[in-house]
Amino acid sequence: MTAAAIHAAAKATKTDAAFQQCVMPGCGATYDIAEVRTSCDACGSLLDISYDWDRLPAPRSLRDFEAKWARRNEPLERSGVWRFRELLPFAPDEKIVTIGEGQTPLHPSPGVSDYVGMDAGRLMLQYEGMNPSGSFKDNGMTAAFTHAHLIGAKRAACASTGNTSASLALYCGMSRLMQAVIFIGSGKISYGKLSQALDYGALTVQIAGDFDDAMMRVRQVSQQLGIYLVNSVNPFRLEGQKTIMLRVLESLGWEVPDWVVVPGGNLGNSSSFGKAFHELHKLGLIDRTPRLAVINAAGADTLYELYENRGLRWNKGQPDTKIVDSYYAELDAASERADTIASAIEINRPVNLMKCLRALECMDGVVREVTDQQILDAKARVAANGLGCEPASAASVAGAKMLREEGVIDRGERVVCVLTGHQLKDPTATVAYHSSDQNEFNRVLGSRGVSTATFANRAVQVDNDLDAIVRTIQLNS
Ligand code: F0G
Repeated sequence: MTAAAIHAAAKATKTDAAFQQCVMPGCGATYDIAEVRTSCDACGSLLDISYDWDRLPAPRSLRDFEAKWARRNEPLERSGVWRFRELLPFAPDEKIVTIGEGQTPLHPSPGVSDYVGMDAGRLMLQYEGMNPSGSFKDNGMTAAFTHAHLIGAKRAACASTGNTSASLALYCGMSRLMQAVIFIGSGKISYGKLSQALDYGALTVQIAGDFDDAMMRVRQVSQQLGIYLVNSVNPFRLEGQKTIMLRVLESLGWEVPDWVVVPGGNLGNSSSFGKAFHELHKLGLIDRTPRLAVINAAGADTLYELYENRGLRWNKGQPDTKIVDSYYAELDAASERADTIASAIEINRPVNLMKCLRALECMDGVVREVTDQQILDAKARVAANGLGCEPASAASVAGAKMLREEGVIDRGERVVCVLTGHQLKDPTATVAYHSSDQNEFNRVLGSRGVSTATFANRAVQVDNDLDAIVRTIQLNS
């Protein structure tokens, strides 16, 4: 499709009240919804999807969404993303590509509440592992994919630590509208996620390097070959991810929690949560905003280092970017690479850093880093209480526990931890943690500073003999 044809197609379909806009208040350049871009021409910053709310039928109350529950047999009302489409109104209904994403529950978890040190019933888990591809990524992918379809894209690409690629591959497979081209770092992706991309039929490009390398390459390649880029640098992705917070509010009877705790990798979720609450507040749909806690893995702690140790702030749209440049120069000089068992967040150069700083300002946020030991222990407690998650997701629970121990979170406050990905995404880490074979434990976890498995549930070894088996069960139950 030529640029002129794309523009004409978009003119016919676009909602004029939605547009792309530079995040930097001092620039604020705007672009048509139909343009494919991931940065501002004028200043190089990230873009938002912005809306002229005065010209749109925004809901008057969040309770207006309840009427849609009765129409759950219609695909757009069934989707946990698109039933909120009045709050992400950039695409006409007939262009929306949905596969029923976002049917995700908010679970109270007394056991995890107790582990974190909260009063009973005060900690809840938003279980995004229930999405069709097993992670929160489907919330954003349906939105980016819809935009890609809107502008007539035939190929879509991403770099990934595994979940974005699984999600993209699934949308391509289900819709047959586009081919998926995914870039992954060699040896940097768990088998659960790799198997999804391969099985769904994505063109899988494994490059020697890590996520940060793959991200740089996919940006170059998609530019050169005109392939639609769906990483969270794509502002449409974040529109879909806003709905995770809408579902949290929905589950709480439209009450605002005190804290939202989320793992931080590329910082798309935290950025989108900030945007969601900012817009809801601006529209008068909520009267206060929860506080935000973003949790890095200690082996991939750029945000923590910049925000908590070097004082980097959004500063009302005037961040001191020299702090970032000098930190990245230090990482390069030391050839330092991200390294954590939570491979999903093994990222040192988060693409949404600036938007996340904005979210932290808007939500009076804090940032913490947790070790792989803390992550795996938290993950085991989450699973023992019934909701399995992958290591990166458990960073939220480990972070909530740390903030509780510091007294930053009060035991009576209402806390929502987002569990971003399903347990089966990374069985290697789980099996190693519970293994009774010390060699296996050391092979997978030893180099990561994990020394004990406090909550291990070890398989019992027994001879293939009926009496011995019966005795073992009697002894252990
Ligand atoms: N949790 C999981 C399970 C993830 O897959 C990711 C990111 C994150 C947390 C971090 O989220 O980027 O919004 O801060 N995974 C990306 C991927 C990078 O390629 O699948 P974020």
